[in-house]
Amino acid sequence: MAQLHAMTGGEGPLSYAQNSSYQRAVMDVVKPIIEEEITTKLDISQLSPNDSFWIADFGCSTGLNSFLAMHIITEAIQNKFQSASSIINSQSREFYVFFNDHVKNDFNTLFRSLPPERPYQAAGLPGSFHKRLLPKASLHFAYSSWALHWLSQVPKAVTDPTSPAWNKGNVYCGGARQEVYDAYSSQYAEDIDSFLEARAQELVSGGLMALLVPALSIKLDPSYKGEMVLDHIASILMDMAEKGRVSEEKIDSFNFPTYYTFPEELKAIIERNGSYNIERMEVLDNPGKYAVTSAHAHASVYRAVFEDLMTNHFGCEIVDELFETYRLKLEASPDLLLPEKDISIIIFVLLKRKLE
Ligand SMILES: C[S@@+](CC[C@H](N)C(=O)[O-])C[C@H]1O[C@@H](n2cnc3c(N)ncnc32)[C@H](O)[C@@H]1O
Repeated sequence: MAQLHAMTGGEGPLSYAQNSSYQRAVMDVVKPIIEEEITTKLDISQLSPNDSFWIADFGCSTGLNSFLAMHIITEAIQNKFQSASSIINSQSREFYVFFNDHVKNDFNTLFRSLPPERPYQAAGLPGSFHKRLLPKASLHFAYSSWALHWLSQVPKAVTDPTSPAWNKGNVYCGGARQEVYDAYSSQYAEDIDSFLEARAQELVSGGLMALLVPALSIKLDPSYKGEMVLDHIASILMDMAEKGRVSEEKIDSFNFPTYYTFPEELKAIIERNGSYNIERMEVLDNPGKYAVTSAHAHASVYRAVFEDLMTNHFGCEIVDELFETYRLKLEASPDLLLPEKDISIIIFVLLKRKLE
């Protein structure tokens, strides 16, 4: 299911390009961290003057936030080369940036919007980042922001009425029964491990990977009484079911293929994988919650992210009503927009591929 949807394409008023300042806000906070890590941890001594330098962004969407990240990363790497010995440094060194996302992503918008003055050659890399996408030992720097909370699929047990993990009446694992939570958590561990495994094959020994992972500071347990966006969407869907606008069966068979990890869990998955040294792991208060403050902007951000997913399941008829109701709900209860109601954090992780 996750593979069949994408962020809303194009550059119109409902597009992800126009409605991603929530995700973009983290860049201001993370820029100095990435610059410092590249300066101190990137090992360029193995590169000969003629080697090109390969960077990839996994889950780039239509690009605007990705271009900013790629600018910061390439600039920091160029600075590192410039301060290195003249044998390693070369004015003619070529940089390649591979922009990855699902095949359904609007790559046309991405390529049309590429900054004309950029210090790299750009290439699209379509396909799921849970699989191998690049040649072995070819990649020098991997990056991913706001993408690793997407699962490869909704855990099967969650939609199976015969399973103890059937998630009837709920749309994700927040406030759900322990079995549901466990099914999501296992799927997440499996998916992150596949991601790490694929990148471990692609990265050169000593290559770096910077991840910005949306998360929660603690594990959500079944006693959680939800006030997150997905809880509001679930309650609006239930109201729509009562009015006969959508069937309850449709809601019962719908679950978001997303999961917010917490720091200990992510660390354990990386350590179990074993292919990387954790060079830095830092919890950042999600800056997005301070960047998007109006009801209209907030509803538009989530519509740009979820519209395609929800249209695929419920049909396009309900989507206007769903997000309009969400906007009105936020307008009627402005407290819901207070930054402290958004309990998400961002985990910044810098990994170094172990030497083989
Ligand atoms: C919220 S957007 C973030 C886009 C961009 N990184 C940013 O910070 O604005 C998440 C992106 O991850 C992509 N994505 C999710 N799962 C993926 C997968 N398995 N393989 C490739 N891309 C994936 C989605 O299609 C979407 O474009």
